[in-house]
Amino acid sequence: MARIGIAGSGTWGTALAIHLSKMGHEVRLWSALKDEIEEIGRKREHRNLPGVDIPEGISCISDDQELCADADVVILSVPSIYTRSTAARLRPCIAKDQIVLCVAKGIEEDSLKTQTDICQEELPQARACVLSGPSHAEEVSRGLPTAVVVGAHDKATAEYVQNIFMSPAFRVYTSSDMKGMEVGGSLKNVIALAAGMSDGLGYGDNTMAALITRGIAEMSRLGKAMDCDPQTFFGLTGLGDLIVTCSSRHSRNRRAGVLIGKGMGVKEAMDEVHMVVEGVYSAKAGLQLARKYGVSMPIVEEVNSILFEGKSASDAVRDLMCREKRVEHAEIKWE
Ligand SMILES: NC(=O)c1ccc[n+]([C@@H]2O[C@H](COP(=O)([O-])OP(=O)(O)OC[C@H]3O[C@@H](n4cnc5c(N)ncnc54)[C@H](O)[C@@H]3O)[C@@H](O)[C@H]2O)c1
Repeated sequence: MARIGIAGSGTWGTALAIHLSKMGHEVRLWSALKDEIEEIGRKREHRNLPGVDIPEGISCISDDQELCADADVVILSVPSIYTRSTAARLRPCIAKDQIVLCVAKGIEEDSLKTQTDICQEELPQARACVLSGPSHAEEVSRGLPTAVVVGAHDKATAEYVQNIFMSPAFRVYTSSDMKGMEVGGSLKNVIALAAGMSDGLGYGDNTMAALITRGIAEMSRLGKAMDCDPQTFFGLTGLGDLIVTCSSRHSRNRRAGVLIGKGMGVKEAMDEVHMVVEGVYSAKAGLQLARKYGVSMPIVEEVNSILFEGKSASDAVRDLMCREKRVEHAEIKWE
């Protein structure tokens, strides 16, 4: 049995708490928002996971020391825009070599840091690692079969975390390519916005397949330029997560995209979804990365034009379709 502190009682932190508690681990679920965590503790239910019981064994807390004290793993599960402030707040409570597992998905605008980069900057004493993959909280909290990946700098840490999380309903692979996992996990939200827009415009399955396939091509091209392993982008944290986010009714990025495709303004669409739409932030970071590394990312560029320059989604699709002619894979040469 391990002691786990979970920082962030949103839907994902709560789903992980339920999963880990059912496995017999000692789980403390923490929120910076006192009212929220008190409500979860009282009702033993999360408002975005209706009908799912929160086991009595999970302690619902708001004290920083209590969250981290003696924890074998501290999980950072706040939305990515709050990762830096939360990590900085917890700095005095994290011990040397304590494992801090980042499960949020996003690249910071301007600094272009991944979640584990931010964690390592704010918590230099910690051992930062990452868990990612196609894993909607609504399904994990109900014990539906799910497969994810844990990435760490060293094999021993990755396997330690793998052992803690692995169950018959939750299969965990390991990887040393943390950056590839994090770049893929963040940029898939941008492609999911585009996929939602396509559905909102009334386009069909052909359009969706094109967006997913050309989306992964953009992501892996960028990853290669950033020294990630291209294979990572065709695994669970890349293509796997891209498929689920582009097609699932649980995806908030896809939902926001549908509303924008139907003609709603970006701010109104974000408000309507009632949750942080991380793809909007990752779109900016994705474009900044594309420019920094000199990589062509036409879908990410068009999503930025729609989100921040008022371009219509239908004009963006027309411009993508009418780009100059190309070969599909530049690496495959003619005889
Ligand atoms: N929901 C999923 O299915 C899922 C699955 C895998 C990964 N993730 C990732 O996990 C992260 C969290 O997602 P989520 O679905 O739990 O988000 P969420 O929108 O449910 O989380 C909101 C929570 O963030 C916390 N919060 C709000 N304001 C805060 C502040 N100022 N400082 C600190 N914390 C604050 C609160 O606990 C709030 O409940 C995201 O990066 C997401 O991409 C989510």
